[in-house]
Amino acid sequence: MSEEALLKINGHEYTLPVTVGSEDEIGIDIQKLRAQSKCITLDPGYGNTGSCESAITFIDGEKGILRYRGIPIEELALKSNFIEVAYLLIWGELPNKAERESFSNQLTEHALLHENLKHHFEGFPGSAHPMAILSAMINALSCYHDDFTCPNSEETLETASAKLISKIRTIAAFSFKMFRGEPFRYPDPKRQYVSNLLHMMFSLPHKRYDASPVITRALDTILTLHADHEQNCSTSTVRMVASSGANLFSSISSGVCSLWGPLHGGANMAVIDMLEKIHQGGLDISKCVEMAKNKDSGFRLMGFGHRVYKNYDPRAKILKGICDEVFDELKIDQDPLLDIARKLEEAALEDSYFKDRNLYPNVDFYSGIILRAIGIPTNMFTVLFAIGRLPGWIAHWRELYLSGDKRISRPRQIYTGHTERSYTPMEER
Ligand code: CMC
Repeated sequence: MSEEALLKINGHEYTLPVTVGSEDEIGIDIQKLRAQSKCITLDPGYGNTGSCESAITFIDGEKGILRYRGIPIEELALKSNFIEVAYLLIWGELPNKAERESFSNQLTEHALLHENLKHHFEGFPGSAHPMAILSAMINALSCYHDDFTCPNSEETLETASAKLISKIRTIAAFSFKMFRGEPFRYPDPKRQYVSNLLHMMFSLPHKRYDASPVITRALDTILTLHADHEQNCSTSTVRMVASSGANLFSSISSGVCSLWGPLHGGANMAVIDMLEKIHQGGLDISKCVEMAKNKDSGFRLMGFGHRVYKNYDPRAKILKGICDEVFDELKIDQDPLLDIARKLEEAALEDSYFKDRNLYPNVDFYSGIILRAIGIPTNMFTVLFAIGRLPGWIAHWRELYLSGDKRISRPRQIYTGHTERSYTPMEER
């Protein structure tokens, strides 16, 4: 294969180097393009732009493949768990027994929030969105852990990661308790990560909550499936913010804000809203499909489509199976929203609009149905996504840091505004 690309602009020819990835993905390296030709590339939405080289996650959207550090997501969902996957993503290899134990101990050690931080929750109105609280509280955390905000060794990064991964769970559970008007539950050092999260959310002073292994495993798998997804919007945000030299905690806090949007992590909430509207009779399935096809309606079929996957999202396939396990475990014979979701999927997959554009259910289509069955309210769904995505954000922060690339992310633009004109004094306007 040629290792160069040729570009012809206005009669001039430019030779551009080509980079080939370990899975034979080809990138035309345009780093010198402007210096050589005075031209830039234009790619709104970055659909054709590689912002970095990365060794963390591989996706083949045409084949529906997702691998973390080379290991297929199906295998990780079946054999591993969220904490092991977090370790794999951040440090590149599965932990051995001692490493796994040491990381788990750190998570236990750092689960508490500084008592003063608890008062921050009182400053939010009861109606505050938990994603707003999460982002603000992660930034606030940096004030209490300033030795760890810019980790400059693997040891401090391990502690910083353990602090973030453990405390994000405590923040999420506390914001849930605040929303419910219930007393905060402190983390229980004897519990594993997901069981502890469910305990902090659902235990009451007079009533201990113990989720069954099936439910704990289902939530663990949801977190595992969300743990990384290469250069998605929130991860790119984390990398971009970090490129300015911003600290780890504020970079992650920005990632939370980016994830909140309904086209990204917020889609899991939007899916349930859409299914509920159909259930309550405000919308029917065929109308929903028709509206999604009509660009003027401003409506999209939430939980459908993906920038990278042009095939069934492998995460959605796994989640569809977990839905059945969770419903069996909870002895729910019939869930109207699950029935509607299945019918909606069937209707969309038979429709030429969706077929022609290769639009399939994505990870958000079934995750909300499972979370809802577990008893998690809709406004917490994206928070759960954020807990899951955190290891990926940290892994990308570390990769950027270790790459030694200190170049700030700073895209250019094609200016389309006024050409030079004079200031008009107030009396002449
Ligand atoms: N409903 C209706 N039409 C759609 C949808 C949808 N959900 N998704 C894409 N399309 C259309 C789009 O309008 C375009 O049509 P045309 O070619 O006629 O202009 C065509 O399909 C191709 O779209 P695209 O360029 O592949 O879409 P994109 O890469 O710009 O957007 C997306 C990807 C995920 C934002 C989009 O599919 C969407 O809005 N989906 C609904 C929201 C959603 O479920 N988001 C969660 C994504 S997965 C988890 C995550 O990453 O957070």
